[in-house]
Amino acid sequence: MLIAANWKMYKGPGETRAFLAGFEPPEGVGVVICPPFGSLETAVASGHAIYAQNVHWEDEGAFTGEVSTKILLELGVQGSIVGHSERRQYFGETDETAGKRARHALEAGLEVIACLGETEAEREAGETEDVVRRQLSALGPPHANLVIAYEPVWAIGTGKTATPAQAQEAHGLIKSLLDVPVLYGGSVKPDNAAELLSQGHVDGALVGGASLEVESFTAICQAAASL
Ligand code: PGA
Repeated sequence: MLIAANWKMYKGPGETRAFLAGFEPPEGVGVVICPPFGSLETAVASGHAIYAQNVHWEDEGAFTGEVSTKILLELGVQGSIVGHSERRQYFGETDETAGKRARHALEAGLEVIACLGETEAEREAGETEDVVRRQLSALGPPHANLVIAYEPVWAIGTGKTATPAQAQEAHGLIKSLLDVPVLYGGSVKPDNAAELLSQGHVDGALVGGASLEVESFTAICQAAASL
C-alpha cells in the first residue's frame, strides 16, 4: 500500500516543517509527501520520502518555470507526480507531454506517479474506457518505479468519490493493460479510505485536500496500514 500526499500549491517551508515534525506514518504502509517546489528542500531534510508534483523531460534548457530531474535528484527528491489533471486542465499538459515527463523521470532514476482519469462529460458519454486506454498508452511500457494514479476528474476536490465498485472496475482495466500498482485519487477522506483501499485492485491512494492536516492524513495512512 502506498499513500501519497499531494499538497498542490499549499504549504511553504514553515508549514512544511511543522507538518512533517508532527507526522509519524504508521508501520506497514509506504508514504510519500509531494510539496510544492519551494518546500522540497525543507521536506527532504525531514527524512520522509519526498516527491515533486511535476518534472520536465530535458536535463536542462530554456524552459522557464519548469524543473529538471537533475535538480530534483540534487535536492534528494525521490520521485515525481506527472500528468495531474490540474496540469492538463489549466497548464496545457497533454498525453504526449505527460508521457515524456514520465519516461524521462524513470530513466533518470526517479519514481513516478502518473495520473490519469476521465472527466464527468467523458464518463456520461460512456468514454471512460477509451480515455483511460489512450492516457495509459501514452505512458509507455511498465517500469519497476512506475505507479498509476486513477483520478476521475469529477472526483478531485469536489467531495464526490468514485464508488468502490467504480474504482475497482477502472483499476482492473488499467491493470489489465499495464502491470503496475494503481492508486485511487479523488476526495479520499478518513471516512471513505478503508472502503476504497480494501478493493482488490486498489493499491493505495493519492490524497489532496485531506493530506493537508496531520490528523486526517494520518487517519488515512492508518486505514491503509490496518488492511
Ligand atoms: P483531492 O485531490 O483529494 O482533494 O480530491 C486529489 C488529487 O488531486 O490528487
